Amino acid sequence: MTKKKIGVLTGGGDAPGLNAVIYALTRTCIWKYDYELIGYIFGYNGLYENNFTTLDVNTTRGILHRGGTMIHSSNKDNLFMHPHVISGKTEYWDESAVAIKNMRDEGVDVLVVLGGDGTLTSARDFARRGVNVIGIPKTIDNDLGCTEVTFGFDSAVNVVTENLGRLHTTAESHHRVMIAEVMGRGAGWIALNAGIAGSADVILIPEIPYDIARVIDALEARIASKKGFSVIAVAEGAMSLAEAGMRRREREASRAENPYRTVSHALVEAIEAQMRTDARAVIPGHVQRGGNPCPYDRVLSTRLGARAAELIREDSYGVSVAMDGERVTENPLREVAGINKTVPPDHQMIKTAREIGVRFGD
Ligand code: F6P
Repeated sequence: MTKKKIGVLTGGGDAPGLNAVIYALTRTCIWKYDYELIGYIFGYNGLYENNFTTLDVNTTRGILHRGGTMIHSSNKDNLFMHPHVISGKTEYWDESAVAIKNMRDEGVDVLVVLGGDGTLTSARDFARRGVNVIGIPKTIDNDLGCTEVTFGFDSAVNVVTENLGRLHTTAESHHRVMIAEVMGRGAGWIALNAGIAGSADVILIPEIPYDIARVIDALEARIASKKGFSVIAVAEGAMSLAEAGMRRREREASRAENPYRTVSHALVEAIEAQMRTDARAVIPGHVQRGGNPCPYDRVLSTRLGARAAELIREDSYGVSVAMDGERVTENPLREVAGINKTVPPDHQMIKTAREIGVRFGD
């Protein structure tokens, strides 16, 4: 069996489960195939700087259950558009050749890339330049079209669900509207799943622009039915009908005017202006990405990492592992990059949520 050297990197926002992937990939590669592994520090930046550490049974001991990534991550590096400041002006150069040379000089045969949309798009571009690449999809947003579910997502849903449960008791105590703004800039999967699991009364997601009048109607109806409080789960990318009518650049500009006036704060202002009810916004933020992975994500990550090792053995490159139902499979990277998975407004979960009384502001 040919001895291979594997380079591993984690890119983009971190997610619980990254270490479990590294753990399974490392052990399978070493114990089953006698391969050698190195981990590039801080994602593609480490590849560019040739900054790496050894991944072996000892250095990865005890990381399966730990959140974060032992080789760190960066969500601002694209080596195909690497910034250089020339006479005060920033120019973007394709520096991928530097990375490829670093791998060649180090004897790296295969690059395994754990990441989301941007990271996997660069992985595809390295594959196009002849690098043996395997992608492992990662994001708490679960918005990658190449796989049914990404590790990190269930862990984030657990965190938000627990937060919503806590908000219920304080909302009920004060007869308030409590609004949890959760992660998901372009897709509302976290808000939808945790909103149902956490008994939110209103769920607002980017895919269904909300009419504030309908949100107020839903809250007033709860008051009329003697339920003096409400809980709203809103994705950070959710937008009002007015915002949905803007061009993206216009919308981003209007939000940039006051970056602290996020969607949940705008809802508080509107609710308190139109109702005789207190409202409060809660933003769990990166708590949704922190902490240890839930059991489901530990198992999912282990399966994906082990499969990546098998693909290396099979010399099957230019692919990204994925979940298809209960089965671990893989897709060509050229078909994966840039394909997002948003919530279809007619999704069965939306229908079910409506049937149990959840309102979506439409
Ligand atoms: O893409 C994952 C994600 O957690 C988004 O849900 C969130 O909006 C973003 O990353 C936060 O990015 P950063 O860590 O750069 O603030």
